[in-house]
Amino acid sequence: MVVRHRPAAASKAVQPVEKSPFTRIVTGHDGGMDDHVFFATAASGTEPCLRDELRAMRLRGVRCDRGGVHFSGSWEAAWRACMHSRVALRVLVELGGFEVTDGQSLYDAARTIDWRAYLRPELTLAVSAVCRDSELTHTNFIAQKIKDAIVDRIRDEVGTRPNVDRHDPDVAIFAHLVRNVLTLYLDMSGESLHKRGWRADHLEAPLKENLAAAMLMLSGWDRRTPLHDPMCGSGTIPIEAALWASNIAPGLSRERLGFERWANFDGQMAARMAEIRQEARDMIVTKALPFITGSDIDQRAVEMAAANAMKAGVKVEFARCDVRDMMPLVSPGFVMVNPPYDVRLESNREFYQAMWRRFEALSGHVVCVLAGDPEVDYPSRIKPSRYQYLYNGDIKCRFGVFEIPARPRGR
Ligand SMILES: C[S@@+](CC[C@H](N)C(=O)[O-])C[C@H]1O[C@@H](n2cnc3c(N)ncnc32)[C@H](O)[C@@H]1O
Repeated sequence: MVVRHRPAAASKAVQPVEKSPFTRIVTGHDGGMDDHVFFATAASGTEPCLRDELRAMRLRGVRCDRGGVHFSGSWEAAWRACMHSRVALRVLVELGGFEVTDGQSLYDAARTIDWRAYLRPELTLAVSAVCRDSELTHTNFIAQKIKDAIVDRIRDEVGTRPNVDRHDPDVAIFAHLVRNVLTLYLDMSGESLHKRGWRADHLEAPLKENLAAAMLMLSGWDRRTPLHDPMCGSGTIPIEAALWASNIAPGLSRERLGFERWANFDGQMAARMAEIRQEARDMIVTKALPFITGSDIDQRAVEMAAANAMKAGVKVEFARCDVRDMMPLVSPGFVMVNPPYDVRLESNREFYQAMWRRFEALSGHVVCVLAGDPEVDYPSRIKPSRYQYLYNGDIKCRFGVFEIPARPRGR
């Protein structure tokens, strides 16, 4: 049974809410130009940053939920989100909501969608599913049934069917079944948006680019003040900072985004997308950029970070240095760091204390630390002016922002 409701109106909520984003039931869409409901996914804790980013793009109906942010509008609204968002992981378009309780109702629901708006027999597809609190409990079964419904409908209409490609499909379909409500989505992004194309290699667990971007936004950095990462690893924080300061849209590194492979992406749309890319290139800032630097105790990391920055097309200076020998920046600025996760108070108190003594001496600086230990008790007299829990993959982290008081000159 197809259940039709109006898409929920944008709420004024400013914090992620504790309900699933996948329980709403919305109208199906026909692949036309306007009035789609989108869901941009984000790492846990970064949803408010993504909301602010999407609002700054003047998108409509922007609303935080757990795991991401809803917005609505034309296809172009989602193209812009894919091109410009630094925090989003994926942008999904909702195709419809249905009540399903068994294999047959699932199959029937998936068959009601006009799949040929997106898929031609010569294109490939992949379906993935998640479910909870529902009669149907096997995600593989759910994905299989939906795939059957799609290919059967297309074969009945045109005589041939599209094939499955699990690794690099032209059209990726996500199914969420929660309390017997199935929501079908198409992934507009293709590869996850955190992949910016500049990372040649890494050593220790690197931060994901979208998390580094969210940390920069949460820190209050103004994109003009000097910024340094004294444990830079592959350089994710300084490189993302330089990309943001230069206003280089993350999507510019993609030759093609996911939706550009769909059946409905015609010549007119391609021409508009070319304009959006050109507009993004025209917005790149090349003058009066901030001084951005990184250092690491490991020479291999320093070399890798420099190679990554070159690939990203940004100017960042890297040097080898122990964080415990770090000097203040030439003019007070931001220090942002993601120490190794085994650097916990209990395991390495001496190191941690030495690092903090250095940070406390950075008169007038703002020091931002992503600690892999969420219960970390900072060995500092200075308390964070604010902190937030963020997830680095599965690891719950605490991101603290410390404003080091300015000492009078000469002291
Ligand atoms: C978790 S990794 C940072 C990852 C980095 N944010 C990235 O995205 O690639 C921690 C880094 O701290 C560096 N490190 C460990 N001890 C250090 C020290 N005493 N001084 C400076 N860097 C150190 C390691 O070499 C490693 O590159």
